Amino acid sequence: MSTKAQPRVAIAGATGAVGVEIMKCLESRHFPLTSLKLLASHRSAGKQVVFCGKRLTVEELTADSFNNVDIALFSAGGDLSLKYAPIAAECGCVVIDNSSAFRQDPDVPLVVPEINGEAALNHPRNIIANPNCTTIITLMALYPLHLRFGLRTIIASSYQAVSGSGQHGISELENQVRAIVNGEPVTCSTYPRQIAFNVLPQIDRFMENGYTKEELKMLNEGRKIMSLPELQVTCTCVRVPVYRSHSISCVAQFEKPVDVDTARACYDGMPGVALMDDPAHGVWPTPLDSTNGDTCYVGRIRKDLAVPNALNLWVVGDQVRKGAALNAVQIAELLIR
Ligand code: A2P
Repeated sequence: MSTKAQPRVAIAGATGAVGVEIMKCLESRHFPLTSLKLLASHRSAGKQVVFCGKRLTVEELTADSFNNVDIALFSAGGDLSLKYAPIAAECGCVVIDNSSAFRQDPDVPLVVPEINGEAALNHPRNIIANPNCTTIITLMALYPLHLRFGLRTIIASSYQAVSGSGQHGISELENQVRAIVNGEPVTCSTYPRQIAFNVLPQIDRFMENGYTKEELKMLNEGRKIMSLPELQVTCTCVRVPVYRSHSISCVAQFEKPVDVDTARACYDGMPGVALMDDPAHGVWPTPLDSTNGDTCYVGRIRKDLAVPNALNLWVVGDQVRKGAALNAVQIAELLIR
């Protein structure tokens, strides 16, 4: 289905961390929209927000919200996506959904524009899924290498920022740091253990095989996005006391023999990803380097010492931006191109 060149756009979850970032991306990228509807819970209804110099009023998300909307960007959680995305799609609106609710549906494309952008154009359910943030950032680093060497296996550990849990995660880290500095007792509500001055090897719930749901997303979503059903992935996802931007340490094994110079050259001219890789001069990326930016940075590329035909690397990316809001807006851009 083709979408209008100047669509009427809605954001479901407009007051949340990703919703606010979607607005920033639409504005900074001069997305050619005709109108913008901001949807959130009844708690936010009536709130005024400035977009492109104009005051917009947040409305309560209801089943009637999607009449006269061409593209709806959803970021209000999986339950609300399951409830409202089919209603919006039924109204003829194309939904770009940030939740995991539809990612494995064979009739819903799962899209990273730099990798499989053409998949966005075939959306029989009128729903397109935005992948998991850690998966997007990891694949931004691995896809250029895959084109040259042929990706077979990913062995990864993630270092995921607290803003991945929304404002609650940020507040929990801040409150715990303050309590510790003041010698007061630490309380935990968002995370099962203290996150301040600690790292937690659990993100989302544990599945029967001992992996967490977050870890299995990297496997299932990586296969679908890259059309590599045989791709092998093993992953440990870790929450770290960093405000924003996820990092991933990754061993990637390939079909063909690898060398570091050729690997580095794979990033030349690749959109959305750049090298920061000159260890002799202290150049390697940290989460702060990607924070509030659109680019994922790759460094520490080296031949793996244990796994044949494998490279070991480190990638960082802003999970609110490329891991969510920016990727969704880029998908919307594909629809109107
Ligand atoms: P609100 O701010 O009114 O609660 P985050 O992921 O950062 O927590 O953001 C979640 C987003 O989803 C917010 O915009 C929030 O709106 C919205 N949201 C949460 N619950 C509902 C609901 N029942 N109906 C509509 N929007 C909701």
